[in-house]
Amino acid sequence: MKDLLRTHTSLQEGIEKLLNLQSKIENDASSKYLAMASWLDRNGFENTAGYMYKQAEEERTHFLKVFKYITEIGGIAITPVVAEVKQEFSSFKEVFEIALQNEIAVTHAVNKIIAKCRLENDYATEEFMMWYVKEQREEEINARRALELFDLIDEDSASGKFELDKQIAKIGSVEA
Ligand code: FEO
Repeated sequence: MKDLLRTHTSLQEGIEKLLNLQSKIENDASSKYLAMASWLDRNGFENTAGYMYKQAEEERTHFLKVFKYITEIGGIAITPVVAEVKQEFSSFKEVFEIALQNEIAVTHAVNKIIAKCRLENDYATEEFMMWYVKEQREEEINARRALELFDLIDEDSASGKFELDKQIAKIGSVEA
């Protein structure tokens, strides 16, 4: 049955697995940002929470984009199981340290697919994944910019918290 299906698609099985993994990673990223938005909201960082809600929505579109691509090219898109995500953070800054780590991990996963595409001569999927390369570059820049703001503004004072919340939300609006 599996062999028969393979005759109807140029999608190599190893690449299909990696694409399904990417779909799960993007879906998890959406859940992680949603948990961050909730933490930020309940800790008084309303503007930054808005930024994270937007990130969560963006990740949902990244997830659907890869999910639909798998189907379009004749593969089997597997609906990802929702992962447990971190709900509590020790500080405002930690949220962004984790966000940056997560984005770097996503970039590595994207690169892994492209490396595999080159090995298997799957230029269609490589071209498709290039959109993610560009997206990841922007997302890493944004996460790093937020962390730079923590170096410039004192997180421990009330006015610093207020200013950080304002400035980080601007990164979101520039991106939009
Ligand atoms: Fe779509 Fe930020 O990973």
